[in-house]
Amino acid sequence: MEQLSEISLKGFMAPEEGRRLYELACDASRRGPCLEIGSYCGKSAACLGMGCKKAGGILYSLDHHEGSEEQQPGQEYFDPELLDEKTGRINTFPIFHHVLHKLSLTDTVIPVVAKSTVAARLWRTPLALIFIDGGHTFEAAFADYNAWLSHLIPGGFLAVHDIFASSALGGQAPRCIYNLALDSGLFNELPMTKTLGVLQRASTDEITARARQRWEEINH
Ligand SMILES: C[S@@+](CC[C@H](N)C(=O)[O-])C[C@H]1O[C@@H](n2cnc3c(N)ncnc32)[C@H](O)[C@@H]1O
Repeated sequence: MEQLSEISLKGFMAPEEGRRLYELACDASRRGPCLEIGSYCGKSAACLGMGCKKAGGILYSLDHHEGSEEQQPGQEYFDPELLDEKTGRINTFPIFHHVLHKLSLTDTVIPVVAKSTVAARLWRTPLALIFIDGGHTFEAAFADYNAWLSHLIPGGFLAVHDIFASSALGGQAPRCIYNLALDSGLFNELPMTKTLGVLQRASTDEITARARQRWEEINH
C-alpha cells in the first residue's frame, strides 16, 4: 500500500476507503478471485490489486473504459485529459494500464474491457469479493447488482462505493442496491468506511435459519 503514495492516481476514492478495499481483498483472496466493476484510471484497482497480490490472489478489473454518463463532455465529472482526440471519446484504458505497470500489478490484475452485463453473460467463476463502482444511474447500478450477485460465494464480500445518507449529499443508486442486498436476507452488514458499504454473504445455514424464522413469524 505504501507504494501508492509514490504515484498520483486519478479517482474519487478517499484514502480510508482505499485501505479498506486493500484489507478486504487480502482477506477475500484466501477464498477466491475478486472482481471490481469500474476500473476508471486504476485507483481502486491499485488498492484491491495490492491486497490480492499480498495474498497471492487475482483481481478482475472490469470497465468498458469509455466513462460513465457523468464523465462525458459537458457533464459534472468530465476530465479533458481523458478525451481521446482521435476518436472524440473518453478512453481511460491507457492510464489504467500505466498504473498497473507502475505498481507491478500486471500479474495480479486482469483487465476485462467490456460492458458489465456483457462480461457477466457467460461468467462461470465464483468470486470472493465484488466491488461495485460502475455507472451511477439507477439502471446501471441495478444492472451490475443483478448481473453479478449470483457469482458471490458464501463468506464473500459485496462492497458498494458512494453510499450517501441523503440525495442532498449524493446520488442514491448505490444506496438503493446496497439496501436491496441487505433486505434480501442473504447478507450480513459490516461497518461502513466513509461512503464504502460492505456486506458479507451469509452461509447457507444462516440463510436457512432466517427463512425458518420468517416462516414461523408468518404462521403464528
Ligand atoms: C466512478 S468510475 C470508477 C472509479 C474507480 N473505481 C476508482 O476508484 O478510481 C466508474 C467507471 O465505471 C465505468 N462504467 C460505467 N458503466 C459501465 C458498464 N456498464 N460497464 C463497464 N464499465 C462501466 C466507467 O467507464 C468508469 O470508468
